Amino acid sequence: MFPHQRVIVRRGPESGLPIIVAVHSTARGPAIGGCRMAAYPDWRDGLDDALRLSAAMTTKCALAGLPHGGGKTVIVLPPGAAGPARTAALHDAGTTIEELAGAYATGPDVGTGPDDMAVIGERTEHVFCRPAEAGGSGDSSPATAAGTIAALRALCEFRFGSPDLSRRSFAVLGLGRVGARVARLLADAGAELTVSDIDDSKRPENVAWTDPGKCLAAEVDVLVPAALGGLLTPRTVPTLRCRAIAGPANNQLDRESTAALLHDRGIVWAPDAVVSAGGIIHATAVELRHEPPARAMARVEAIGDTLGRVLRAAATDGIPPAEAATRLARAAMP
Ligand code: PHE
Repeated sequence: MFPHQRVIVRRGPESGLPIIVAVHSTARGPAIGGCRMAAYPDWRDGLDDALRLSAAMTTKCALAGLPHGGGKTVIVLPPGAAGPARTAALHDAGTTIEELAGAYATGPDVGTGPDDMAVIGERTEHVFCRPAEAGGSGDSSPATAAGTIAALRALCEFRFGSPDLSRRSFAVLGLGRVGARVARLLADAGAELTVSDIDDSKRPENVAWTDPGKCLAAEVDVLVPAALGGLLTPRTVPTLRCRAIAGPANNQLDRESTAALLHDRGIVWAPDAVVSAGGIIHATAVELRHEPPARAMARVEAIGDTLGRVLRAAATDGIPPAEAATRLARAAMP
């Protein structure tokens, strides 16, 4: 069966670039999911990404208890591209989203931010996280980072018997908008910290730094994947020296079966669909339900409770947390 409800692949009329909008499900409500702008070797790789990421958004919304389904937009930049066609490409994404008449709304993702959402907003109202002056809830990364910290506390409580982050060591892999914030919050909490990014210029002062390959295999309590997905594979899992993993990166496992490899090694993997939901929880609470920021942040904090529930269910049933999350998400589908 073809699992997606609707997928649009088109050459952007303004940019000439491949524009992909994948609506995985609207069973729980209108689909939401960010707009990724990235270089791919081929547009088909961008399509694969959109299909996988939109399906993951359905799970993310279901586990967060949101009345939404999953979708994703991918704008395929040519390899090595820099940005003159950026505005045109964002307009193309907006035009395409507008044609879906509310079945899907977008937001920021890898390669895009609030200002880009304002540009998409010139073509459609179905866009989250425009800057406040353009009528949106602004940058979603503080909420995503706060949700990640709530998840890390719950994970530490489950794995090490205390939610106190100052007693543990962490390796943060990826210092983008969300990863850099998570690292700062961990440092503020007094955690022992190692960080890494493929971009050396992101190296912060006064924090231990390693190259990304070493970071993945760092001997720490918790590995925090905060860059692109697909880093946990049958090849990398045997090299890991952490005791638990939780981070905001989407689709960390290269395939479902990798969860069992982590489980067999005794590494507790917190499903990314739970950990990374802070952005959508906050944006939908503020922009659709007009909740005050404090109420929205309380919802984000509840990610810790959700993760605790998933980890305990997994332990009770003797299954990997990924499987427990999938079960819970399925049960939440109408
Ligand atoms: N990148 C966000 C995610 O993966 C997408 C998003 C954020 C969508 C905020 C809407 C609002 O969850």
